[in-house]
Amino acid sequence: RTSEGLSAEELVRPDDPHNNITASVAKHLGRGLLHRPNHPLQIVKQLIYDSFDRKFDVAKGDNKMITFDDLHPICTTQACFDDLLIPADHVSRRPSDTFYLDSERCLRTHTSAHQTHLLRDGYEAFLCAGDVYRRDEIDQSHYPVFHQMEGMYVMPQADGAPQVSVEATEAHLRDALESVVADIFGDVKMRWVEAYFPFTEPSMELEIWFNEEWLEVLGCGVVQQEILRNCGLGDRRAWAFGLGLERLAMVLFQIPDIRLFWTEDPRFHEQFQDGKITDFKPYSKYPACLKDISFWLSPDFHENDFFAVVREIGGDLIERVELIDEFTHPKTQRVSNCFRITFRHMDRSLTNEEIDKIQEVIRESTANQLGVELR
Ligand code: PHE
Repeated sequence: RTSEGLSAEELVRPDDPHNNITASVAKHLGRGLLHRPNHPLQIVKQLIYDSFDRKFDVAKGDNKMITFDDLHPICTTQACFDDLLIPADHVSRRPSDTFYLDSERCLRTHTSAHQTHLLRDGYEAFLCAGDVYRRDEIDQSHYPVFHQMEGMYVMPQADGAPQVSVEATEAHLRDALESVVADIFGDVKMRWVEAYFPFTEPSMELEIWFNEEWLEVLGCGVVQQEILRNCGLGDRRAWAFGLGLERLAMVLFQIPDIRLFWTEDPRFHEQFQDGKITDFKPYSKYPACLKDISFWLSPDFHENDFFAVVREIGGDLIERVELIDEFTHPKTQRVSNCFRITFRHMDRSLTNEEIDKIQEVIRESTANQLGVELR
């Protein structure tokens, strides 16, 4: 379907002006966290699959959700954006937000990229989980690669029967998602909040009351009729949802940092067991090493480009990059930013010397690639 079978090296193509995939991001393709036994993301995925499996009953006329969790993350911009009625000038398409392979292909930014392929292939009820990619800030809860699960359900409709109403579709959607969330979180307070997605109308988000605050769990809505028509489904109705698996796993298992999902440290992995939700007990972290970098901005400076340079060089040693000072020169009006980079190794202590070397490369690359003036 979208399987391109490209190696990490083939994803990084400096000769193509549209290509902005970095080697550090390319390394994440094929890691297969959703297939790894006893991995918390795999556990959550399976809990959701099982919950839907219990919820829908063929004997009662429901469709069963068919599951997909090995669709390739490279997709066409057509499937990721156009087919979903995402406007050409939408922010999510900007090269500062999306990793492009070339002018027509990108790393999926959401699992919604599979909606129209699967509908055209004749699937009417499916769950689809996978790694998704977004250029983003770096901190405890943001990482350029994370995992989503998409669900889509075309309402059953007998030949010649009147069209299912939007209201009935929305009611079916709410009921299904409320029971799956209750299945996973137990007896929690939930609330629906209005939302906006170009591909659904109405659109909403489901929140749960968890650890004394409202936590957004998923986005969803009734699929735009135009999308279904374009996929040969005429006037059938459907609903869809998308949720972030890390976010759910972090609250369910009390995992404090999104980067832990990628660690090979046995102290992490030995704490989880398929089918079980258990509390993660943090083990001691190795010490952090902090380095500041200051520079005069160039007119087209974009923070995400700087984050990409830092991550490209520092890889998973980068725990956090934060703006700690901004200064406008009173005479020249030039703006200077100072960023603090927190380095930390998940599996050992760092030496100041090794980080100084990395910081020097970060400084050079920042000046060369972003055209800023170091201070
Ligand atoms: N794709 C949306 C996101 O990534 C979530 C979503 C999926 C919303 C399906 C509505 C329907 O935020």
